[in-house]
Amino acid sequence: MRMYDLIMKKRNGGTLTDEEINFMIDGYTKEEIPDYQMSAMMMAIYFQGMNEKETLALTMAMTNSGDTLDLGMIEGIKVDKHSTGGVGDKTSLALTPMVASLGVTVAKMSGRGLGHTGGTIDKLESFKGFSTEISEEKFIDNVKNIGIAIMGQTADLAPADKKLYALRDVTATVDNMSLIASSIMSKKLAAGADAIVLDVKTGSGAFMKNEKDAFSLAHEMVKIGNGAGRKTVAIVSDMDQPLGNAVGNALEVREAIDTLKGEGPKDFEELCVTLGSYMLVAAKRAESVDEARQKLVECINDGSALAKLAEFVEAQGGDKSYVYDTDKLPTASIIEEIESPCDGYVSRIICDEIGICSLILGGGRETKDSVIDLSVGFVLKKKVGDKVNKGDSLATIYANDREKLNIAKERFLKAYTISDKKVEKARLIKGVITE
Ligand code: URA
Repeated sequence: MRMYDLIMKKRNGGTLTDEEINFMIDGYTKEEIPDYQMSAMMMAIYFQGMNEKETLALTMAMTNSGDTLDLGMIEGIKVDKHSTGGVGDKTSLALTPMVASLGVTVAKMSGRGLGHTGGTIDKLESFKGFSTEISEEKFIDNVKNIGIAIMGQTADLAPADKKLYALRDVTATVDNMSLIASSIMSKKLAAGADAIVLDVKTGSGAFMKNEKDAFSLAHEMVKIGNGAGRKTVAIVSDMDQPLGNAVGNALEVREAIDTLKGEGPKDFEELCVTLGSYMLVAAKRAESVDEARQKLVECINDGSALAKLAEFVEAQGGDKSYVYDTDKLPTASIIEEIESPCDGYVSRIICDEIGICSLILGGGRETKDSVIDLSVGFVLKKKVGDKVNKGDSLATIYANDREKLNIAKERFLKAYTISDKKVEKARLIKGVITE
């Protein structure tokens, strides 16, 4: 088999066989196929597309290009959750203890944040002593004993995707549905869960800027997951403004804890309950989504989800007293209000700009090696659809550096549009894809 012939076949609109796709991914991982030939193939796929069977074959070839986790020694149905990323997305922090308190096994590998979106591991490090650098043995023990463990990615999961994604990034071939879906799903399948619940974000703070693309991606990923024998559901949710109110690591931890006490923002609680309900059904801990929703509301009301978070933090070396006294979380030295310059209604928030403002304050990572400031960020006081008067606080800003605060504040104000006409509040859940 020759890569040249495969490039020509795809360029001319042909369909690649499973064998051809395996040859290409295997050769590329082993560096037997050079970047220039793979670039040409990516461009051919970009223009000619891939059908369902080809997309599944590509995903499986990338999944099998490195380590795959075997969670077989952990009893029960393991359910993973994945978000395509957004601003203020602290869902895992609240959702995982919620579902774990109801008997769902959470064995999760998480990443750190890069750019304007945050990472779960960084946020969890707001608890003094908390570590995700735990041995595989401890990881399995914690999952068995308390039902929840999160570790940093140690295994070499889907290395072909890592190489290909870097190549696509510099050859203008990222935004093709089959390539994005297979990239995300190869990593999820390698992580070993039996069922997967996907949170596909759409809007100005998301990878998928418009709803149509988000639904297409959700459909592609659900087809791949189910085709690979893992029960997969996707929720398409709004990211046209930050989720909840808090943006910034420790601030988001505080908001997740407030939510587990029943005192969090309603949009964030609703997303956790919606995602959690599909996780409970997939894990056979509830017969229906409605029953699952009731259980999830109950685990907040009776304090069991909060207790599970404390148990989880302690099991990974963290100080659990922070869960009950959030004033112990890292705090910024400068706290100020950002005031509205006029009367009106908030009609738009450029969501990724708010993420970039948090990055400017030091709350995000510009490069892989940047050290982040856990205490900085924003707590929004006004969101889309809210009425504001001149001088009202749009948000509280938390900073440790006056110069950075000034730059971030100016940019934050530009991200808000305030108009005379009242606008409708955005719908949070845009749809659910199960087939
Ligand atoms: N995220 C991924 O992991 N892969 C893509 O191709 C795009 C976003």
